[in-house]
Order: sequence, then C-alpha cells, then structure tokens
Amino acid sequence: MNTYSFDNIIERRGTGCVKWDEASEGVIPLWVADMDFAVAPAIQEAIRKRAEHPVFGYTFIQEDYYEAVISWFKRRHHWTIAREHILYTIGVVPAMSVAIKALTLPGEKVLFLSPDYNCFFSSVKNNGCEVVESVLRFHDDTRRFEVDWEDFEAKCADEKCTVFLLCNPHNPTGRVWTREELRQMSDICRRHQVRIVSDEIHCELVMPGHHFCPMGLIDETTIILNSPSKSFNIAGLQTANIICTDATTRRRLDRVININEVCDLNPFGPVALIAAYNESENWIDELNKYLWDNYTILCDFIGKNLPQWKVMPLEGTYLVWIDVSSCCDNVEAYCDKIMQKCKVWLNPGSMYGSTSGEGYLRINLACPKSTLQEALKRLTTI
Ligand SMILES: Cc1ncc(COP(=O)(O)O)c(C=O)c1O
Repeated sequence: MNTYSFDNIIERRGTGCVKWDEASEGVIPLWVADMDFAVAPAIQEAIRKRAEHPVFGYTFIQEDYYEAVISWFKRRHHWTIAREHILYTIGVVPAMSVAIKALTLPGEKVLFLSPDYNCFFSSVKNNGCEVVESVLRFHDDTRRFEVDWEDFEAKCADEKCTVFLLCNPHNPTGRVWTREELRQMSDICRRHQVRIVSDEIHCELVMPGHHFCPMGLIDETTIILNSPSKSFNIAGLQTANIICTDATTRRRLDRVININEVCDLNPFGPVALIAAYNESENWIDELNKYLWDNYTILCDFIGKNLPQWKVMPLEGTYLVWIDVSSCCDNVEAYCDKIMQKCKVWLNPGSMYGSTSGEGYLRINLACPKSTLQEALKRLTTI
C-alpha cells in the first residue's frame, strides 16, 4: 500500500493530452514519456494557490527558485551547485539546442551514444551540425548496454567532433551510468578537447540497486541540463535549468537563450518546481517503488506469455527497452501491427537510431497497474 493514488485511473482524453488524445479511440497509449499519475499533492496545492491570483503576466524568477534547485541537488545527489551557475529556460530540448548552438560551429560533429532520445538527432541537425553515433552493445555477462570505448575514443579523436551529448540516465536503454563509466567518458573527452553536455532529465527515476551520479560531480566542466518535469510529471509547465560552472561559456549560453527567445518562463512552472523540490521528496520515492512493481509485473507477464520478447534490465527511467528482433525484420511495421491488432501504442526502437534501435521497441510503464495489465493482455494477441 502506498500513500499516493498511483492506482487511480485518471481520464486524460479530452484534455488536449498528447499521449491520449493523439491515440485513436480504444487504444492504450504507452508511448510518449509522460505519466498517467496525478502530480504530488504539494504541487497541486501550489498551482491551485497561484491560480487563485487572477493575473498571469510575465514572470520574474526569484531567490526561492534557486534555493529549491540548490537544496534538492545537495540533499538528493550530494552535488553543490552555485547560484550564479544556474540559467533557466523553457525545457530541456530548448536547453539542448542552446548548448549545441553555443558550443559548436555549423558543420561540426556532435557525438552521442546510440540508440538515444530522438530529439538528440533533430536538435543536432537543426543547429547545422552532424550526428555521430557510438553504438551501445548489450553484454550478456554484465546484463547491460555498455559503451564501446575504442569506438567512442576514435570518434572523439576526430577534430571536427566538439561536443559529446550524454543522456544520464539513458533513454531508451534504461541505463544509469556508473561513476566509473562517467569517469571514463570524461577522461576520453578531456584527452580530445570534446565538451560534455549531459541531459539529466531522468535523474530522479532510479530503480533499486542503482545510483544516479550527476556528471557535474565527475567533471565540473560539463554543462548539465535538468528539470523536475519528467520525474514529477510537469512537462507541460515548461521549466528547465542549465548548470554551467565556466563564466565565459555561461555568457555564451545566456546569449543563445536570448537569441533563441527561450528566456521567459510561464507563471506556473517555477511554482511547480519549488513545490516539487521542496515538498515532494516522499512522492518520488513512492513513485519509484510503484514503477519498479510495474516493471516486475511486465517482466513476469512477458516471460510467461511472450517469451520471444527479451526485456532489458531497467536501471532507471520508466521506459522499458525490449528486444523483439526474433519476431520481426522491421520494428516500425511490427509496432503498426501491434497498434492495429492489439490496440496498444508502443514506440519502435528505430525512432532512437535507425540501425541501433532496429529490432527493439519501447514501452512506457508509468501508468496504473490495471492499465498496464490490460495492455499486456492485449499484446498476447499479436
Ligand atoms: C532524455 C530526454 N530529454 C529531454 C526530454 C524532453 O524535455 P523537455 O520536455 O523539457 O523539452 C525528454 C522527454 O522524453 C527526454 O527523454
């Protein structure tokens, strides 16, 4: 029994909800990365209170915002952030775009571990740079995806490669990188003067036995992108932070935030961030337990009923990566078939790397257990 109502079914259709309203009637959507859970009570209360004030004009970020960010990362992750190192913007993807524009010249190369979050590809290309993928390999002995260090270093050694864009924890493979792995990434990047940008939006979603380490603790020159949006289910409130210790780089980032016109937050985002970081720690702990239970249900069910699907270990995030290569040659067509026949919307792995993600699919398990169970039951009809 948990204190919060993660089991409650909340009707999201008819609210302009991307996840549900873009799905045809009768389809269970387990695709886009948001959760079907009510936000923490403190966040609801803070928003309600702010909404009672009838004016929603331009918003000024005050000290309590910075204090909430600093205090959270100190308490939860033993990472000390200085007030002046924080820049805010309207989302992690906009922050990514800002970082790439500020750190690269058009035509340069941005490296990332593939498969990777789909917006990494678009953001790099939209900023006139070239994508370079170092493909992760699943190791049967360690039961996890690992970096091919030789390949990673060879790609960093290319003088046109100026930025390594890291996803920590990693969407879509569910890896939570260890300190040793982060150290090795940092050592290689330093050797070849490659700047690290680390997207840490999933950092609160960590499963038992694993520990998130901010890349800023390993390498303080890293530019960190973060937000409570994913873990506290407030993505629609569009608030994110960039943490950068170096003053010259920070000035450039600040300039690009203005050039890209992503500098004004809405009046609700900061209110939600403060309530999340200051008052919702227990909610996150309970959420992680619930997600872990859902993962266990999924593994048991698939093991018994769809044994040809190989579920990858989930270390962090609520996105499960599943190897379905023995069932299909084209995962996009396979997901289309699942949608038509089973009425469940899943993401084809090819979205996250046309080669590296082929043969995989991604399931979002951040929903009430009964929804997950119904979707799993439907999947057996494929
Ligand atoms: C790794 C990663 N970064 C960023 C985002 C989206 O960030 P935002 O909505 O703040 O732009 C997502 C959403 O799924 C994500 O998985």
